[in-house]
Amino acid sequence: MRKNIVAGNWKMNLTRGSSLGLVDEILEKISKDKNTEIILSPPFLYLYKIAKMCRFNKNVKVAAQNCSKEVKGAFTGEISAEMIASCAADYVIIGHSERREYFLESNDDLAAKVNNTLAENLKVIFCCGESLKQRENEIHFDWIKQQLTQGLFHLDSTKISEIVIAYEPIWAIGTGVTASTEQAQEMHNFIRNIFYEKYGNEVGEKISILYGGSCKPTNAKELFSQKDIDGGLIGGASLNADDFLAIINSF
Ligand code: PGA
Repeated sequence: MRKNIVAGNWKMNLTRGSSLGLVDEILEKISKDKNTEIILSPPFLYLYKIAKMCRFNKNVKVAAQNCSKEVKGAFTGEISAEMIASCAADYVIIGHSERREYFLESNDDLAAKVNNTLAENLKVIFCCGESLKQRENEIHFDWIKQQLTQGLFHLDSTKISEIVIAYEPIWAIGTGVTASTEQAQEMHNFIRNIFYEKYGNEVGEKISILYGGSCKPTNAKELFSQKDIDGGLIGGASLNADDFLAIINSF
């Protein structure tokens, strides 16, 4: 059985006070008998505190939004995977399109981050996604395959099992435009087939593939009902406890 996952990516939002308030509200209102894994991804500064707050709920995990491609040393301002692991985190989000685009992270950089993260026994949420232009030019399938191949396919089948994929079409992120259910399912199925081909049936069947891009309470149920959509990576709607919980309850 694949794991259903709803992850909230807070990006560069919320102060310490409002972050802790949001976590309190989520933990208080969350239904205890759900099987869905919930991942909160706050800014680095609040990670340890939030990991401590969540440790009594086995379904709630925390993720860092990024880590350095370097292991340690003179890299002012960087945060290593080792530091993240020492703050009781469970996951690191790697390859978000905002990191790729604004911070010029290449597939090689991302492969190094994946290695650093797994070496610390953390799991990875690996993001991929195409631009509108790439979709219009019908190169979106090739592009996604290339992102997965260059970022992940150096891993063996044991390590690849520590990866969750997030498919996030760039044109749907923060725009209010969601990919149609058909577009999302089609790409998720394509991604799963790549894993079948490369790693075999067991891995392909088990890997959780999340959808991201303007996922909200009004469209989550339909998206999550698709065969190859195992949850969501939620940006804007994860900043409001009721919206985030409504998305979690869409399973
Ligand atoms: P959004 O962001 O839900 O605000 O579109 C998704 C993401 O970037 O992870």
